[in-house]
Amino acid sequence: MTDLTVRIASIEMANPSMLASGILDETGESLLRMMTAGAGAVVTKSIGLAAHDGHRNPCIVEIPTGYVNAMGLPNPGMEEFAEELSSIMPSPAPVVASIYAASAEDFALIAARMENAGAAGIELNLSCPHASGYGMEVGIDPASVSRIVSAVKDAVKVPVMAKLTPNTADIVSIGKAVQDAGGDAVVAINTLKAMVISPEFARPVLSNRYGGLSGPAIKPVGVRAVYDLYKSLDIPIVGVGGIENWRDAAEYIMAGATCFQVGSAVGRVGPEVFKDITAGLELFMDSYGYPDVESMRGVAHE
Ligand SMILES: Cc1cc2nc3c(=O)[nH]c(=O)nc-3n(C[C@H](O)[C@H](O)[C@H](O)COP(=O)(O)O)c2cc1C
Repeated sequence: MTDLTVRIASIEMANPSMLASGILDETGESLLRMMTAGAGAVVTKSIGLAAHDGHRNPCIVEIPTGYVNAMGLPNPGMEEFAEELSSIMPSPAPVVASIYAASAEDFALIAARMENAGAAGIELNLSCPHASGYGMEVGIDPASVSRIVSAVKDAVKVPVMAKLTPNTADIVSIGKAVQDAGGDAVVAINTLKAMVISPEFARPVLSNRYGGLSGPAIKPVGVRAVYDLYKSLDIPIVGVGGIENWRDAAEYIMAGATCFQVGSAVGRVGPEVFKDITAGLELFMDSYGYPDVESMRGVAHE
């Protein structure tokens, strides 16, 4: 019998798949739907202090190899979302609250509110490529990352993970800053800064001009990031970027991921992608003699 259970500090998951932040995760009901679809854990849309509308349309473009989006972090704000979260507690699978803020103090405040509402963990969005003054701009500076992780660790008891941007020359130094500040895990990667131009309109398609590329196009970048982080870090790594089937998930685990997240594929394939990935992974592990996820983790380094 293959054992698919994994854990990140106190977060225990029945299988290593998680719903990535930003896809079908704005309401309690949609989060529950993803658990029923087979996700071992779910991550919420990134939540800020106050309600935020995000960018105007068009804010997402589909391309053959994924999406380019600039949603601009639309969300109902901390208080309203905390009520939504409490309404599904206790939940059948762990819910990790993704949060963003403009200062370490606000990150700590929102994290504490989410913990109080039942979140089993906190994911710090330090990596949004299209939200000015938030996200990626702080996520490429190790000192800012360290300040934010320390402040949040002081404010909550649940595990704290930091989601990293690939839009930096040195993702490992950011990962180390997270680890040194007491972070429980890193999540790699968020979207890559990108653009799509309409030849007919002779201008960028997205209202924000720039967006973030996700989906199969970014998988090799994500796998490389996880591989590099695994060489230098002792804390768990959550792999994300372009995972659509069990082979993609196996690549991330062999690069060093403890578990993985699925985002764009929930739209491109459908929510059944969770069960398909875990069923395929289980068959593969069984045939190739991996009794559990741990035994497969990082084997590509040997
Ligand atoms: C429409 C959309 C919205 C997203 N919103 C968020 C978000 O609010 N916070 C966040 O940390 N990442 C967000 N992401 C990034 C994903 O969580 C993930 O890191 C990225 O899409 C790569 O994974 P994928 O290729 O499986 O989609 C979003 C991605 C998409 C496509």
